[in-house]
Formats: sequence, C-alpha cells, structure tokens
Amino acid sequence: MARTFVGLDVGSKTVKAVELRRLRDGFRIERFAVVPMPPGGLVEGVVADSGKVSEAVRAAFQQAGIHNRRVVTALGSKAVVVREIQLPEMPEEELDRAVRFEAERYLPVAGEDLRVDYQVVDRAHGQVSVLFAAARREVVDNFVQALEGAGITPEVLEVTTFALARLFRGDAQQGAIMVADMGAEGTDLLLLQGDRLRLSRTIPTGGNVLTRAVAAVLELEPTAAEVVKEEKAVAPVGRTLPEDPTSARVAEAISPVLGDLVTEMRRSMEFFLSRAGGQELHKVVLTGGSSRIPNLAAFLAEELGVPVEVGDAFRIAPADRPEEALGPVVAVATGLALRGAEG
Ligand SMILES: Nc1ncnc2c1ncn2[C@@H]1O[C@H](COP(=O)(O)OP(=O)(O)OP(=O)(O)O)[C@@H](O)[C@H]1O
Ligand SMILES: [Mg+2]
Repeated sequence: MARTFVGLDVGSKTVKAVELRRLRDGFRIERFAVVPMPPGGLVEGVVADSGKVSEAVRAAFQQAGIHNRRVVTALGSKAVVVREIQLPEMPEEELDRAVRFEAERYLPVAGEDLRVDYQVVDRAHGQVSVLFAAARREVVDNFVQALEGAGITPEVLEVTTFALARLFRGDAQQGAIMVADMGAEGTDLLLLQGDRLRLSRTIPTGGNVLTRAVAAVLELEPTAAEVVKEEKAVAPVGRTLPEDPTSARVAEAISPVLGDLVTEMRRSMEFFLSRAGGQELHKVVLTGGSSRIPNLAAFLAEELGVPVEVGDAFRIAPADRPEEALGPVVAVATGLALRGAEG
C-alpha cells in the first residue's frame, strides 16, 4: 500500500489532523479530524499545559482513525519570527552563520537558545534573499515533548504560514494573492506571488476579539458569547443589518472589529503593492475557523475592492466525505501534509 502523509495543526482552539495520499494526478484526503483544544492548553502559540495538548492531539488522531505516525507539524506564527532578508552572496557555511546572526536581532535570546531554519528564495546581482523562521529553543522543545506525550514524533516542524503558502501556491501563479488565516488568537496575513511568500504578519484581530465584542455588547459570559457568535454572527454586507434581532445585535457588536480587520488587510495590501511596482492583487483567500462567518467574503470584497473567497482544502485535495464547512479549517494541516507528500 502506498504511503500516506499526515499534517497536524495544533491551534489554541482546535487541533486538526489530515492524512493525505498521493495519487498519480494529485492528492486525496483519506482521513481528517478537527477536535477542540481545552482552554489553557496552547496559549499564544506556546504550550501552557502539556497534558492538555497531548490529550487533544491524541483525540484528533483517534477521531480521524489515523495510524500513520509520520507527521509534519508546525508552530504558529505567534511563536515564531519569519522574515525575508537580503545578504551579500557568500559561501554556504558563512550564510548559515549570517542568517543566525540576523535572526538573533529579532528574538531577544542568546544564540544557543534559538532555533533557526531558512531557505534561499532568490539569488541575483550578488545578493541572496533568505526566508528564515526562528523560535526559542524552549518553545520548540516543549511543543515536541507535548506531541511525544501523544505518541507522535514529528518528522518535520515548520511554520503554519509556510503550509498555507504551499497549499495556495497554485492560486498565486496567475497573480499575487493574499491569504488571511483567521483563527482564534489572531489573523495571519500572507502575500503570495508565485511560489514565494512575499510578506507575512500577524494581527491580533481574530475570533477571541470578536467573542469579547459580542460578550460586551450583549452582556454575556465569554463561553455563552462564543456560542451566540458562532450561531448568529453574519457579516454586514451592504451596511444592512440582519433581520433576526440577535444577529442584528451581534452584527453591531462585531462591526468595529471587522473594520479593524479591513484596515489591517488594506495596509498590508498597499505595502505589498507599493513595493511590487505594477502588480495587482488577484484575490484574497480566507481560512481558519473565523472565516466561517456567513457573508464575510462578500463583506471583505466590498470593503477591499478585490475578489474574496473562502479557501477550501478539499478543492486542492478531495476527500470521500468532505465536510464543506471544514474546508478552510483544515487548510494549514493539509498544507503541512503536502510537505510530507512532496518529500
Ligand atoms: N461558524 C462560526 N462563526 C464564527 N466564528 C466561528 C465559527 N466557527 C468557528 N469560529 C471561530 O473560529 C475560531 C477558531 O478557529 P480555528 O479552529 O481556526 O482556531 P485555532 O487554529 O485553534 O486558533 P489559533 O490559530 O488562533 O491558535 C474561534 O474563535 C471560533 O469562535
Ligand atoms: Mg490556527
């Protein structure tokens, strides 16, 4: 039987596992699961309670029925610094040291406490463009230990943004695209052009901020507010409020937060376009649990003046029984599994 590849995306709210099979003409998702992460397990991309993380990861593999333990996983962007830097052309060992040296300027820890990974993305005119990811060694070690607690030894550990860049690079061949991964603790904004990740930044506007806004306006406890948000939130397209009275109040509560999101997305788009001379943004792709808000894509398209769609992992790798609503939620995990499948 041909090998399969597993992508594991551990978030602060949910754990996603995807098992992918390589076919002659593409990929197929054989098994997948999205299970809740108990509060306080993973906080700001860092393991806060190892037992909770192990338990949730174990549950995801069990629910999906995945037995393969060849796993590609990732740290979230909150725990990692990702930058593209330019360095003068130099021999490989020196480049190694130069990248580490640069990385140390971004993370206030001593060299030996830093884990750095990089790839050369371009070489021209005596300059090397390097994309690096750096994280504190302790953060990496604690994450790996929590996975080992679930019986998993990751073969590859990368960054969630790289997984999204891989999953959507086909879409980025016809023109630059923005991917907005809207999770709970924040939103990652990526600009992709062809195979290259041109820009990635994290903004704090995510599902938790939306929930807090609903809690404040509707005077609810956070847990109740989250339930109401997930059931009733609708993005206000055409500046008309929904008819359902609760939906209308939720829409009113989340509008300022969505406004902040628009501002930040616009800022990143403009920054990229100002440097990319003559380029246009082809489209925006939304992923993550918060992209499930009905009408969000239409709302953002109206505000940004660019086509916006909800990204769907099942379009890139079909499944026997896809759950349409989970297409954007398993995007990172699918991109991670693809890394394994591509060797
Ligand atoms: N139908 C829905 N409507 C609105 N929000 C939703 C819906 N379904 C899920 N969410 C929100 O999506 C968020 C969880 O998304 P996701 O599972 O992608 O998070 P995560 O990857 O665990 O988080 P992070 O990457 O920030 O650590 C939560 O804030 C949740 O309230
Ligand atoms: Mg996430």
